[in-house]
Amino acid sequence: MTSDDDRQPWLASAGEAAEVARLLDAFNVEFDTPTPGVEVLAARLRVLLAGEDTLAILAGVPAVAVALVTLRPNVWYPGPVALLDELYVAPDLRGHGIGSRLIGRLLTEAAERSVSLVEINVDEGDVDARRFYERYGFNAIDPGSNERALCYFQELTP
Ligand SMILES: CC(C)(COP(=O)(O)OP(=O)(O)OC[C@H]1O[C@@H](n2cnc3c(N)ncnc32)[C@H](O)[C@@H]1OP(=O)(O)O)[C@@H](O)C(=O)NCCC(=O)NCCS
Repeated sequence: MTSDDDRQPWLASAGEAAEVARLLDAFNVEFDTPTPGVEVLAARLRVLLAGEDTLAILAGVPAVAVALVTLRPNVWYPGPVALLDELYVAPDLRGHGIGSRLIGRLLTEAAERSVSLVEINVDEGDVDARRFYERYGFNAIDPGSNERALCYFQELTP
């Protein structure tokens, strides 16, 4: 793998929305999840990445991995809460430390923004991803509790 050796992960600009969109679309295609397609994603990302509360971190030249993060305020914390919306490394490059470097950069960026909490939703059966996140200090059990946290959601379709 040569591409990732060239450059450490960096924060994508709005001008790199198409690169981010290409990787997010590939993620959903690989896992048979609906995607609106690269063009729609790129148009949304051009707006989102120009703001303060959506971050994308890219790795590799050309980019082969992405972390997408959104920030929001939360009354229980002095700083923002970050949600890792997506983390994706191209299939043939997994297991070479790229995802770890993205997490490292994410935690650095979060600290610079005084983020108080970083959240990640993971499928229960995705034991590889769970082991990966736990290695970097994430936990699915609240301190002081013996119960695993669950994420409930409901899609609202207009
Ligand atoms: C999870 C993922 C981002 C990790 O990135 P990576 O560059 O492969 O990870 P690293 O090389 O830094 O670290 C290796 C660890 O990643 C995890 N990992 C490796 N291959 C993986 C795979 N195909 N799927 C999920 N996790 C994997 C394992 O925990 C591995 O540790 P191990 O050596 O104990 O098995 C990457 O594998 C990936 O994109 N997987 C598919 C998409 C996905 O599951 N995203 C997370 C959704 S919550």
